[in-house]
Amino acid sequence: MNKKTIKDVDVAGKRVFIRVDFNVPIKGGKIEDDTRIRGALPTIEYAISQGAKVILASHLGRPLKDKKKAEEKGLPYEVSKYSLRPVYEYLRTLPSLQEASGNISDEPVRSGDTVPVGKAEIKNDRVFFIGESVGTEVTEAVKRLQPGEVLLLENLRLHPEEEKNDPEFAKQLASLCDVYVNDAFGTAHRAHASTEGITHHVDTCVAGLLMEKELEFLGKALNNPERPFVAILGGAKVSDKIPVIESLIERKVDKLLIGGAMAYTFFKAQGFTIGKSLVEDEMIPKAVEIEQMAKDAGVELILPTDHQVVDSYDPLHSAKTIPVAFTNTGLVGLDIGIETVEIFKRALEGAKTIVWNGPMGMFEEKPFDEGTVAIAKAVAEATEKGATSIVGGGDSVSAVNHAGLDDKISHISTGGGATLEFLAGDVLPGVAALDDK
Ligand code: 3PG
Repeated sequence: MNKKTIKDVDVAGKRVFIRVDFNVPIKGGKIEDDTRIRGALPTIEYAISQGAKVILASHLGRPLKDKKKAEEKGLPYEVSKYSLRPVYEYLRTLPSLQEASGNISDEPVRSGDTVPVGKAEIKNDRVFFIGESVGTEVTEAVKRLQPGEVLLLENLRLHPEEEKNDPEFAKQLASLCDVYVNDAFGTAHRAHASTEGITHHVDTCVAGLLMEKELEFLGKALNNPERPFVAILGGAKVSDKIPVIESLIERKVDKLLIGGAMAYTFFKAQGFTIGKSLVEDEMIPKAVEIEQMAKDAGVELILPTDHQVVDSYDPLHSAKTIPVAFTNTGLVGLDIGIETVEIFKRALEGAKTIVWNGPMGMFEEKPFDEGTVAIAKAVAEATEKGATSIVGGGDSVSAVNHAGLDDKISHISTGGGATLEFLAGDVLPGVAALDDK
């Protein structure tokens, strides 16, 4: 990692703007998966312990896109769905954000219109929320922040200027701080005002500790992996993964295991009947090309040999496992089968580096989560035997969490698109913009 981190600069008493990725699933005001928030805590706690005045900023969802869609379809659009307030409610329950404070006065929290919550409920509350991300009220709230206190701003994407990387908006964000920290690895592939534009207006721009960890794990796997190096890719579409597949083959991953619906494009390219399973016909020539590329590079490309299928006319009652070669025109493949799980497990034996992105089947519907969960267990076992494992992508991470194996994986990446772009060898604008060491 050739970028400076928050530990390379003095943040004591300074206004520190930490761009985090708190784009987390929220239902009925409750956070359903806090992986990304927990990932950012070491940076926040470190800044607090140094007596920084911490400003947290994030996006949540794609409010403007959704608004446009709702308008086109004449559907209601609920802006409240895009508020980061539930994240604030979560943050203020965390003892570490109350206790990690260093140089803080014990004065009661200042109340006021611009920091509308906090005082009454928790004494010495050090975490605040403001329902805006720029403007006079935000500037005033930041002025009142004391060392060791934290102010969470409202969803940056409620301003169209954020995604447009508008220089004026970036300047407004920059005016809030002395030091800029990017800890939002999950958003580092976006050149937005809070991830790229802002860095043109702040003198000190450094990486957070989560960003550092992500770049170290993924960077080592991609550029200097301990071998054997095994990659497992899944998910619905091969088109989403082509740059990653090509990059992994170019870097001579030792084995490439492909599961999920994307395998059907390869099966069809090989002449198998795939029934009504998902396929991208336009990608068939690419699948042929990839198989050839792998062969030429000496990369072992391993596809499923059996799968769980349902009869398309009786989907609820007909789940069964059959060899891929026995698929008939009425069947839909929804998960890898047990023989494939064994083959994938064997391929992981002795691995020293494992990267996994994407589910093996229709993970959200039981029993089609079985393949993905079995692979989560196999990756955890390989890790226990000495492999460094990296899991990224929403569904594969959920499978690991769901199986209670998160602490058995070396690194759970908080990136979706960002992880894929990094593994594809792309430069992430949010990283490139930070100060070099
Ligand atoms: C993600 O969820 O992958 C990141 O938060 C980025 O979100 P985006 O794809 O809406 O830019």
